[in-house]
Amino acid sequence: MMPHRHNGVAIEYTMDTTLPIPPRLMLGIESSCDDTSIAVIRGNVFLAQFTAAQHIHAKYGGVVPEFASRAHQRHILPVLEGALEQAGCTLDDIEGVAYTRGPGLHGSLLVGSAFARSLAWARNLPMWPVHHMRAHVLAHWLEDAQPPSGPMMALTVSGGHTQLVDVRSPWELEVVGTTLDDAAGEAFDKVAKMIGLPYPGGPHVDRLAQEGDPDAFGFAAPRMDGLDFSFSGLKTSVLRTLEKGGGESMEREGWRADVCASLQRTIVTMLVSRLEEAADLHGRNAIAIQGGVSANSGLRKAVQALGERRGWSVHIPPFKYCTDNGAMIAMAGQFAAMNGEEGDLSDGPLPRWPMFSSQT
Ligand code: KG4
Ligand code: ZN
Repeated sequence: MMPHRHNGVAIEYTMDTTLPIPPRLMLGIESSCDDTSIAVIRGNVFLAQFTAAQHIHAKYGGVVPEFASRAHQRHILPVLEGALEQAGCTLDDIEGVAYTRGPGLHGSLLVGSAFARSLAWARNLPMWPVHHMRAHVLAHWLEDAQPPSGPMMALTVSGGHTQLVDVRSPWELEVVGTTLDDAAGEAFDKVAKMIGLPYPGGPHVDRLAQEGDPDAFGFAAPRMDGLDFSFSGLKTSVLRTLEKGGGESMEREGWRADVCASLQRTIVTMLVSRLEEAADLHGRNAIAIQGGVSANSGLRKAVQALGERRGWSVHIPPFKYCTDNGAMIAMAGQFAAMNGEEGDLSDGPLPRWPMFSSQT
């Protein structure tokens, strides 16, 4: 069933498990930050994905925009070739090109979007500019991510964003809560840096946390009004604790693991309690997480446990759809196409593209 449109705004769409996604062979091109990722999907069925991560930034403790765009330029063609080969098809078979138009780093977006638009133009293919944050949410509709069958409250947690998104349909997303300062991924990365772990620190904190004691440190977790988040106080609280030498706890071997376990538990509790409040407030009985931090083992367990306790259905993406990936961009392209949208050559990058509530 297609959404009805009225004055350009999609009207409430009742989702069901038979959501017919046309079987178009779609390329998805992601280059908003430091991963060059290209995927091929048919309808919502994953066929292939190739991703080139950039290791150069580790040396600098964060993404260096100029290096990022140069690396995208070097990677993008081999990544495309890899994806096509893995999918067992050629450019002649591709029926549409979706790409990240924003938000993200300008130079990085420029490489992917110029490449995607030129490719579509040269091959006479339709093209769909995609909003990166919407795509993180729409990744749940990929077939092997077990597509939602109704509205849900979705928490996007990445290196640049922390958002609670009320998802009424693939075309009707509304941000109902956001961070007022740092993103959840940034809190992981900044604390990791303080204790000497490599960039990006999130996965290292996750790994070390398994060996640590989550009760070792009591870090402050400020609560904001409404459904918003704040992580900068937590970061300061960790810094103060480290400056004071952490008391006796830091003389023990394994204090780093204790910091990781305590930090992870604090962040996970902040995220999951807000997710529960948001779902209650909006009357949703399905919850979801997405974005890089949704790869976190503590968060995945806590969200699963929340779902079981409340009898809610839970959507946690497979790892390949958590961090930045081409498949979610291709999926968002399919929904844009179903909504009757189409881009053209003049769609330049939008590094600060806001997430409107009723457009893709
Ligand atoms: O979505 P993403 O790949 O890129 C952005 O759009 O930002 O998210 C990257 C973020 C980084 O902050 C990284 O440290 C974090 O996701 N991350 C994790 C884990 N894996 C990735 N944070 C905590 N635990 C993990 N296992
Ligand atoms: Zn992302």
